[in-house]
Amino acid sequence: MKNAKLKVSLLGCGAIGRTIVENSGDEYEILAVFDRNTEKAEELAGICSAEVAKSMEEFLEYASLSDVVVEAASQQAVRECPKILECTNLVIMSVGALSDSELLEKLINTARESGKKVLIPSGAVGGIDALKAVKGLAEEVVLKTVKHPESLKGAPFFKEKGISENIEERTVLFEGSAIEAIRLFPANVNVAATVSLACMGFDRTRVIVIADPNVRENVHEIRAKGEFGELVFKVRNRKHPKNPKTSYLAALSVVKLLRDLAGEMRVGT
Ligand SMILES: NC(=O)c1ccc[n+]([C@@H]2O[C@H](COP(=O)([O-])OP(=O)(O)OC[C@H]3O[C@@H](n4cnc5c(N)ncnc54)[C@H](O)[C@@H]3O)[C@@H](O)[C@H]2O)c1
Repeated sequence: MKNAKLKVSLLGCGAIGRTIVENSGDEYEILAVFDRNTEKAEELAGICSAEVAKSMEEFLEYASLSDVVVEAASQQAVRECPKILECTNLVIMSVGALSDSELLEKLINTARESGKKVLIPSGAVGGIDALKAVKGLAEEVVLKTVKHPESLKGAPFFKEKGISENIEERTVLFEGSAIEAIRLFPANVNVAATVSLACMGFDRTRVIVIADPNVRENVHEIRAKGEFGELVFKVRNRKHPKNPKTSYLAALSVVKLLRDLAGEMRVGT
């Protein structure tokens, strides 16, 4: 006989929140939602008959009745997350926020004290299972991200380096550490942060950022080397229909994580 469904509450009712709601069913149900834009929260709650929290304080009450909270809001929202972790497990989508080592330490210490867990989905990339397995053995991890120049516009990189944002041919813009890449291209933080956390950390993970007017999708290629051999993973991500800045795969990856939490068996490291 199937046990009660996993109770999930959502912090953030945008593109990813919607995909989570649309895929709820036998495995998990949505208990409560919170968004700083109450209209968005109400719209999403209407689809799944969830409670709408009107404030973070109210949301924390629902969080304590949930098996897990999913943060799918913003890096700023992650700063509120230690309070959530005091009362339940926490999935973090805005994983770039964890490049702030103080915040990361605070979350880990809170989880240790409360006995709850911080869960980071693979998000917009694959291969995170293998990178985790070779942690401590990898001699090199390189993430190569290729994007259309439009998707890179507004990055602090261009101002700081005095380079024009109007790029007409494939150009390698940056090669360096993940921590530096995150500073110069804050809109690309999530993949770089997930890869860093999985294996070699923010200082030792190498990132290459390429602008290419001929690509439509966001392409991420991860390479790792060590005594275990060589790992190569490549994804060409389609945009989420509700948010062109988010890859659809990222939303699917958190749905799968929730189904795994609810289910009897989990495949993959
Ligand atoms: N891990 C990954 O690979 C990955 C991939 C894509 C997106 N993301 C991240 O996931 C997050 C959600 O993505 P999305 O596409 O659903 O974004 P979205 O913009 O469609 O939705 C975010 C929602 O969160 C709300 N929000 C933002 N800050 C808030 C706060 N402090 N308190 C309450 N509500 C707040 C906004 O009003 C909005 O409705 C983003 O931070 C994004 O960068 C991660």
